[in-house]
Amino acid sequence: MRSNAPLPALVEPGRHVDAPSLSLGAGLDLRAMTSSAKRRCLAVVLAAGEGKRMRSERPKVLHELAGRTMLAHVLAAVGTAGADRLAIVVGPNQDEVVAEARRVAPTAEIFVQTAPLGTANAVLAAKPVLTEFDDILVAFADTPLVMPETFAKLRQALESHAIAVLGFEAADPAGYGRLIFENGVLAAIREDKDLGENERRISLCNAGLMAIAGAHGVALLEAIGKTNAQGEYYLSDVVGVARRRGIGVAVVSAPEEEVLGINDRRQLAAAESVLQARLKSRAMESGVTFLDPERVHLSYDTAFGRDVRIEPDVFFGPRVKVGDGAVIRAFSHLEGAEVGPGAIVGPFARLRPGAVLGEAVHIGNFVEVKAATLGTGVKANHLAYIGDATIGAGTNVGAGAITCNYDGFTKFRTEVGEGVFVGVNAALVAPVKIGAGAYIASGSVVTEDVAADALVVARARQVEKPFWAKAFRAKHRKV
Ligand code: UD1
Ligand code: MG
Repeated sequence: MRSNAPLPALVEPGRHVDAPSLSLGAGLDLRAMTSSAKRRCLAVVLAAGEGKRMRSERPKVLHELAGRTMLAHVLAAVGTAGADRLAIVVGPNQDEVVAEARRVAPTAEIFVQTAPLGTANAVLAAKPVLTEFDDILVAFADTPLVMPETFAKLRQALESHAIAVLGFEAADPAGYGRLIFENGVLAAIREDKDLGENERRISLCNAGLMAIAGAHGVALLEAIGKTNAQGEYYLSDVVGVARRRGIGVAVVSAPEEEVLGINDRRQLAAAESVLQARLKSRAMESGVTFLDPERVHLSYDTAFGRDVRIEPDVFFGPRVKVGDGAVIRAFSHLEGAEVGPGAIVGPFARLRPGAVLGEAVHIGNFVEVKAATLGTGVKANHLAYIGDATIGAGTNVGAGAITCNYDGFTKFRTEVGEGVFVGVNAALVAPVKIGAGAYIASGSVVTEDVAADALVVARARQVEKPFWAKAFRAKHRKV
């Protein structure tokens, strides 16, 4: 981390590094699309804001959308747009933000903006690296829906201009900086609080993020003053400064929903719904049927094969993969799970992290699977818990069967071979192994390993006492 004085860089200056963030995106490498390919790009991600309006213990940029933090969304987008290096600007004492930045982008450099003096000041916190790159992309960590293509367009505009700003038509421009044109040329961006009366009507607004040629960056940013209504160093003033120096500024435009900035929980929910619509649209394009797309929640990384069918009210947490032709029935909850081709999950099923279902597995109502691999054709159709287990192909797990995997301190594994019949309400007390083809009688509490093809009955033998009940009732009637 660097504050005012540079601390040791995480990446040796000058050494080319393929930032791991490049693999964070959806496999789309936009370098190839533009001749920006040869120019080296630094993305500066501003995350030093306080985010008070979230009313949260958690820093604003760590709130999640579709299963990952806003910060991670932005880092992924700039990575996909071809950033060679990332600089993340945080506020003082933002340890959690730093930890998330390191987790998502271990080679990113982190800079501390010591006081929130404005967006231009925030970019300058990364000054030690600003001059090392041809293109500087400035992104806001609280503006998480910007597409990699849009960042790539901003970079592309640097082929002919020293600065490219991102504009959008706002339905309600109040609060945003406005793009002020003179004789058809962008002359300045004026912040909302500094607008003249006539300028308030302008609906073309500044999205905030921009691209600046590295050769001009530091000089332009350092020329920005703070004589404005808020006494802050505005990044948006870079336009006016450039204009005065005869440096051209390009305007790239984006749809408003893409540049939605998150300041409060209402905006967080609005962004979630934009993202959900995007994710479902992408899934449908790749051959997924949703009976009611609005009632399914996806994560940023939910991966589907073709001809997957999803019923309403299904929740996909992060790291779920669903194979071709699988059906996820209503009211199921999946996270960190793999569903094999042709499998049927639900209704009312729960797949927890580490659940790996093979081809044509059936998981029915009120069945929970965790850290367990189920081979081809395994069926667990009702009311079962399979945790820390391996279940061989073709095994049938009866209603109410449970792996007893935990003794209050340690987790143990259950291994069930192929073609086993696990009777209703069996309790498999781990660690335990059931050989292939074995039969477990209903209600058994299995504490020892079972040989292949054996029948195990591990329950009390049935005792019948003829007329005992009748006699018992008669005795009570006498009293
Ligand atoms: C900014 C733009 C405005 C634009 C709007 C779009 C400026 C001066 N204004 O205003 O023209 O219409 O975005 O949403 O750029 N940050 C820091 N350090 C600071 C201040 C901010 O890191 O000292 C970070 C914040 O964490 C945030 C981003 O910069 O990620 C934007 O800051 P914010 O205060 O939200 O700017 P706006 O007032 O929304
Ligand atoms: Mg903002």
